[in-house]
Amino acid sequence: MVDSVKVISHYGEKDLLERLDAALAAAGLGDGELAPEALAPLDQFHTRGLAATEELAKVAGLGAASMVLDIGSGLGGPSRYLASTFGCHVHGIDLSPTFVAAAHHLAQRSGLADRVSYECANALDLPYEMETFDVVWTQHVAMNIADRGRLYGEALRVLRKGGRFAIYDVVTGNGEPLHFPVPWSREPGTSFLMTPDAMRAALEAAGFHILEWTDRTAAARAWFDERRKASATGAVSQPLGLHLAMGTDFARMAGNLGRNIAEGRAGILQVVAERPR
Ligand SMILES: C[S@@+](CC[C@H](N)C(=O)[O-])C[C@H]1O[C@@H](n2cnc3c(N)ncnc32)[C@H](O)[C@@H]1O
Repeated sequence: MVDSVKVISHYGEKDLLERLDAALAAAGLGDGELAPEALAPLDQFHTRGLAATEELAKVAGLGAASMVLDIGSGLGGPSRYLASTFGCHVHGIDLSPTFVAAAHHLAQRSGLADRVSYECANALDLPYEMETFDVVWTQHVAMNIADRGRLYGEALRVLRKGGRFAIYDVVTGNGEPLHFPVPWSREPGTSFLMTPDAMRAALEAAGFHILEWTDRTAAARAWFDERRKASATGAVSQPLGLHLAMGTDFARMAGNLGRNIAEGRAGILQVVAERPR
């Protein structure tokens, strides 16, 4: 099994809460309720940010009564978007205590603490009974997880029959090695991308029925192109961003992911699977 400590040490800079509050104040968001859109540059920690979350949410089968589990909830942007948009309850789990504390803090600042909750837990050993959730959700987490059979088995176990598993993940591309560091790993030892075929086989072997399989690589390539152009012209410079959580080398990590995608080394998939009734 992968060393969880290595994954935890990759995510979450020291004194994150203090730096978050300072950056929110610098962005003019020191007081009042925070909207998901305002926090999106900081708390949607995946390719294409809030737009990707909105797309996945449309096909995840969510309603106001849904109980949702967000596996690898990070800073909590996706869970807060789902709770505020659909009125559902979302519980996030994450390995990183720093991220769990930040997600809770941002939920309070967003007036959503009654509809979202977070705790430290490992995706490979979910502390819930069988069939606890109506929807299981995960975005850009599985790249840190070698044992996909166990990850998908745990997702199936806690999902009710007929419930959906909504996934947005990075996969391998043309077989060429990645340029590191990338946003989920500074070195190859904690990066476990699968081919799309192997991912599909692992989901089906766990017992899922695939409902939707969408390649989002072209959209991701276009998004990284836009970001590159905007940063070259100096059009993007904001106090709120993932550098707060990940450190000053985050720009290099994100740039490498864009390069890996542009060179065909990595791809992006949106998948919706169902636990058969
Ligand atoms: C790139 S971030 C994505 C966060 C969030 N899903 C989002 O899209 O905004 C990956 C997250 O997965 C978490 N993670 C990685 N391996 C995990 C595991 N085995 N169990 C729980 N969380 C894990 C990390 O701590 C990190 O917060």
